[in-house]
Amino acid sequence: MWTKDNLPDLTGKTVIVTGANTGIGFETAAGLYEAGAQVILACRDLNKATEAIASIQQRKGPGSLAGAQLDLTCLVSIERFATEFTQQYQFLHVLINNAGVMIPPASQTAAGFELQFGVNHIGHFALTGRLYPLLKATPGARIVTVSSLAYLRGSIDFDNLYSKNSYDPMREYCQSKLANVFFALELQRRISASGDGVLSLVVQPGANNTELARNMNAAEYAAALERFGTLMEPWQGALPSLYAAASPAVKGGEFYGPDQDGGVRGYPARAIIAPHALDEAIAKRLWQLSEEATGVRFPG
Ligand SMILES: NC(=O)c1ccc[n+]([C@@H]2O[C@H](COP(=O)([O-])OP(=O)(O)OC[C@H]3O[C@@H](n4cnc5c(N)ncnc54)[C@H](OP(=O)(O)O)[C@@H]3O)[C@@H](O)[C@H]2O)c1
Repeated sequence: MWTKDNLPDLTGKTVIVTGANTGIGFETAAGLYEAGAQVILACRDLNKATEAIASIQQRKGPGSLAGAQLDLTCLVSIERFATEFTQQYQFLHVLINNAGVMIPPASQTAAGFELQFGVNHIGHFALTGRLYPLLKATPGARIVTVSSLAYLRGSIDFDNLYSKNSYDPMREYCQSKLANVFFALELQRRISASGDGVLSLVVQPGANNTELARNMNAAEYAAALERFGTLMEPWQGALPSLYAAASPAVKGGEFYGPDQDGGVRGYPARAIIAPHALDEAIAKRLWQLSEEATGVRFPG
């Protein structure tokens, strides 16, 4: 059973966690801080980041914490964040693409993408690309992308990424979480082809009691509880991210998640990737679309 007590000493490591003010991102940031890392909480609301830092500091870890503003709906915000980060920090050992939104009312990012596809995938694609030069320059750097078991029910509808034809909130969430898997795997293939030493890993945290359900009504939430049973607390949902971020046992292109009840609960272990997420033609098409949409090209 792997827990955060198994984390190696992360003194001297610099880590970014997106969406770290609450839920799984908060516990991921806290776990890294407790292991000695310098953790940057990249949050859309800087006040929430500041409050989260005050709360994490009560754990009196040996690491350090800083907040930074990052809105993943906005490519300008992403570029500004990455530029300032690159000016301020010499290394980036781990980028954790954690932030996420689930089943919001129909809405779009600044670039016009459906919000979940736009934040969960496109925003993190642009962020990773903007930070890639720093990751590449950091020995042993890792990129951890947080997906979900929802990827199993996802497909990429290239004709409806702006949700102009129709909007089904859960269908679009599943699509965005499948996009996370395609992204992480295609990134590892491209990194390997370019000869860089960076690792790209994908995780799913199981079913956890977080604010992700904020857009569910009571009936939808009850149905989710019926389906998943007892939810884990966020500290446990953070373990796959912590494992991928720091365990010496991981390999690029692998998927990690809780080891029990089909990945719903448990402790981190390697997971089998469903065949539909291994389709390299779709992964390449998604990558090309993401490059064109963001103007960000990497790892080349
Ligand atoms: N909870 C689960 O059971 C579960 C299951 C599978 C996968 N996941 C995945 O785990 C990740 C974390 O989710 P969670 O459960 O911890 O949810 P959460 O408690 O709702 O936290 C989501 C985080 O993402 C941030 N965020 C949302 N939109 C953003 C934007 N435009 N720019 C920057 N940050 C943004 C939120 O900021 P605000 O607080 O300011 O809104 C918050 O910090 C997500 O990728 C989610 O898909 C969770």
